Amino acid sequence: MVRPLVYLCVCLVVSTTVLHKTAVALSYEGVTDALIKRVTGQREKLAVISTDHNDVMNHSKYHNYTEMMEMLRTVERRNPDLMTLRELPNRTYEERAVKMVELHGNSSQAGDPPKPAVVIEAGIHAREWISPAVNLWVVDALIQGYRKGDPNITAMLDNSDWYIIPVTNPDGYEFSHKEDRMWRKNRRDIRWYCKGVDLNRNFDVEFSTTDVSNRCWEEIYPGDQPFSEPESFNVKYLVENLQHRLVAYVSVHSYSQVILIPWGYSTDLPKPPNFNETLRIGREMASAMEVRHGKVYRTGQAPDVLGYASSGTSEDWVMKAVPGIFAVGIELRPAAFGNFTFEAFELEEEQIVPTAEEYFDGLVAMAKELQLI
Ligand SMILES: *[C@@H]1O[C@H](CO)[C@@H](O)[C@H](O)[C@H]1NC(C)=O
Ligand SMILES: *[C@@H]1O[C@H](CO)[C@@H](O)[C@H](O)[C@H]1NC(C)=O
Ligand SMILES: *[C@@H]1O[C@H](CO)[C@@H](O)[C@H](O)[C@H]1NC(C)=O
Ligand SMILES: *[C@@H]1O[C@H](CO)[C@@H](O)[C@H](O)[C@H]1NC(C)=O
Ligand SMILES: *[C@@H]1O[C@H](CO)[C@@H](O)[C@H](O)[C@H]1NC(C)=O
Ligand SMILES: *[C@@H]1O[C@H](CO)[C@@H](O)[C@H](O)[C@H]1NC(C)=O
Ligand SMILES: *[C@@H]1O[C@H](CO)[C@@H](O)[C@H](O)[C@H]1NC(C)=O
Repeated sequence: MVRPLVYLCVCLVVSTTVLHKTAVALSYEGVTDALIKRVTGQREKLAVISTDHNDVMNHSKYHNYTEMMEMLRTVERRNPDLMTLRELPNRTYEERAVKMVELHGNSSQAGDPPKPAVVIEAGIHAREWISPAVNLWVVDALIQGYRKGDPNITAMLDNSDWYIIPVTNPDGYEFSHKEDRMWRKNRRDIRWYCKGVDLNRNFDVEFSTTDVSNRCWEEIYPGDQPFSEPESFNVKYLVENLQHRLVAYVSVHSYSQVILIPWGYSTDLPKPPNFNETLRIGREMASAMEVRHGKVYRTGQAPDVLGYASSGTSEDWVMKAVPGIFAVGIELRPAAFGNFTFEAFELEEEQIVPTAEEYFDGLVAMAKELQLI
């Protein structure tokens, strides 16, 4: 059966490059004052970070890959001290470059320990458009928040480096814009009658054991071996390069409103050694997310919160490859209520900003729990 759930994969990666900073403070135009809203109860909403610089990005729309990359290049040009747009090593099957946003606050001084790194992997499943969209908003919010001196954001970017892959699977994403809105996989030619590998079944953890199909026309075809695909290979490359300073990895999907704690392939086998801590932080994220707009996100292992196990997923592989790390998947809006509809992948454009706001609050809560703030 086709599993139509969207996973949010936010990958936090630590870079080995020397950070640089120019003295020039460039800022976005049209920044408005942050709005602090209070809610009754124990938690306080975080400030709303304004992102209304419509000359660069319109967050009320879904954009194609070319448009997104152009917008990011503009933001990079205006903020060379905070942001670097990098290219991951392997081009896709259709020869697209896979770009990654690297965000960094103040530079390290000689002799400082390397900064912790956070990797966010988004858009690995083509049709889950909300995943790239909210991460574009997050890039915007982090840069504008830093410029305005928001204390949480300043601490996040000064204390850690953020690596965000907004569209991990650009071939599939473009195909979902042009041809088939419900496309999920990449676009590799497998046989004359079928294309595409499910990239989030292609990681080297319990490869091809659960929730996969060896029929290449199916949506959960995992490929013939782990990391056979340039897109998953890129993630492996990044994680391995950052592993000595990687503290968090987030894979961002849709839909179901859940936070997925490894292992996703089984609840019967021994859990990761840091399972309790991962679950605790996941719940903190979910509770911060709920405060913003009242949307409830459940937290747990996939078989419990989604109703099925899946093998070869990125967050499971990162948890295995970098033991002790905080690695989770996030499934964004809408909630699933135990039933599946294709329509649910087509989240209305009006929901991009509210979804991004709650997701961002989850990331701030995570950063706080990991002592990056
Ligand atoms: C920073 O985060 C804390 C708690 O996570 C929150 O109470 C505070 O309002 C935040 N500050 C801003 C300016 O958002
Ligand atoms: C942004 O996109 C929305 C939805 O398509 C549109 O209504 C709005 O006018 C756009 N804003 C700008 C400033 O272009
Ligand atoms: C992307 O969208 C823009 C604006 O709608 C359009 O002009 C352009 O042709 C699209 N690019 C591709 C590759 O589809
Ligand atoms: C960078 O910022 C952090 C926190 O904002 C501060 O503790 C640290 O001293 C700063 N480092 C440099 C080199 O400015
Ligand atoms: C990725 O690129 C490396 C170096 O060119 C190559 O050896 C490897 O086969 C590529 N992997 C995939 C899955 O495309
Ligand atoms: C994790 O929590 C469970 C249930 O609260 C507990 O039984 C178990 O001992 C804890 N594991 C570790 C390693 O602390
Ligand atoms: C299935 O989803 C619809 C909304 O799309 C909801 O109204 C309905 O209650 C759900 N069914 C179950 C069994 O949860």
